[in-house]
Amino acid sequence: NKTIYILAIESSCDDTSAAVLCNNRKLSNIVATQKIHEEYGGVVPELASRAHQQNIVPVVHQALAKANIDKKQLSAIAFTRGPGLMGSLLVGTSFAKSLSLGLGIPLIEVNHMQAHILSHFIEEENYKMPSFPFLAMTISGGHTQIVLVKDYFDMEILGESLDDAVGEAYDKSAKILGLPYPGGPLVDKYAQLGNPKAFPFPKPKVDGLNFSFSGLKTSILYFIQRETKNNPNFIAENLNDICASIQYTIINILMDKIKKAAKQTGITQVAIGGGVSANSGIRQALKKAEEKWGWNTYIPKFEYCTDNAAMIGIVGYLKYKEMDFVDQSITAKARYVI
Ligand code: KG4
Ligand code: ZN
Repeated sequence: NKTIYILAIESSCDDTSAAVLCNNRKLSNIVATQKIHEEYGGVVPELASRAHQQNIVPVVHQALAKANIDKKQLSAIAFTRGPGLMGSLLVGTSFAKSLSLGLGIPLIEVNHMQAHILSHFIEEENYKMPSFPFLAMTISGGHTQIVLVKDYFDMEILGESLDDAVGEAYDKSAKILGLPYPGGPLVDKYAQLGNPKAFPFPKPKVDGLNFSFSGLKTSILYFIQRETKNNPNFIAENLNDICASIQYTIINILMDKIKKAAKQTGITQVAIGGGVSANSGIRQALKKAEEKWGWNTYIPKFEYCTDNAAMIGIVGYLKYKEMDFVDQSITAKARYVI
């Protein structure tokens, strides 16, 4: 049984990341976060691809150095093929193809959404991995999905957002409140100090296991416009209660759907991933579900929740074992379904 070293590259959105894995263990996981988008209140695709171009070489060097690995020891290169922003994906894809050609080692393409889910299989001390089948809920600034995971590469999307992602709902609500981007963590912070039932917001009516968050954003906007007309200090005087009410509504939406998915499939093993997994409300709600209904829930280390290359590396390792390689004709894929 030979030791496998995978160099993984992630560049699907606004984080440039490189990681080295030794089998299913992480040796390094370097992430360069692009600050440039903050002043625009969201990711600007053209700026993202330019920053990837600048960051990719230093990030890869750092990942190899931290892992204490020479590039000649690498078994294969894994990269994010999609889904994501085309200009961003092209940087990582082109880089990975060139390096694989230069080193004469196999190339492995990775679906970013599968990687979020399979990040649960990175070996970590004291982390219990889920067993198949399980439900995965990927919640971030770019995604909101409930996936039935039957095996490593046998997944079925049960539901997803028809409009904004849940992290986007957080960030847009925060923007309405005058909070800086990305506002999700701030809404969470103030929410913990407020009354969740202070201001009721309507829950969207969406069939099945799909989500919709754009209506919530609009109702928050109208509510704030109406209240500040009467009282210009409304936001400042009620910030904690407003945030708590927004959080209460969003977490209810997520929990309603995951409960429905559990009921529908009979599966009570629930794994989450994506940046919104850091949210205190979702963590509490899942803990309650464990205690009340005997669910098993799985939340990876925060490092593996946000976009990172280690999760691309674990997929690389799993595919390496299957000899699932691609050749130089591979191209990036902005829309890439699991
Ligand atoms: O996974 P991620 O780093 O990037 C992608 O979108 O792929 O997720 C970032 C998102 C942002 O929308 C951010 O506001 C949200 O995750 N987020 C949170 C919290 N921490 C991060 N939202 C709510 N509560 C949090 N504690
Ligand atoms: Zn992601």
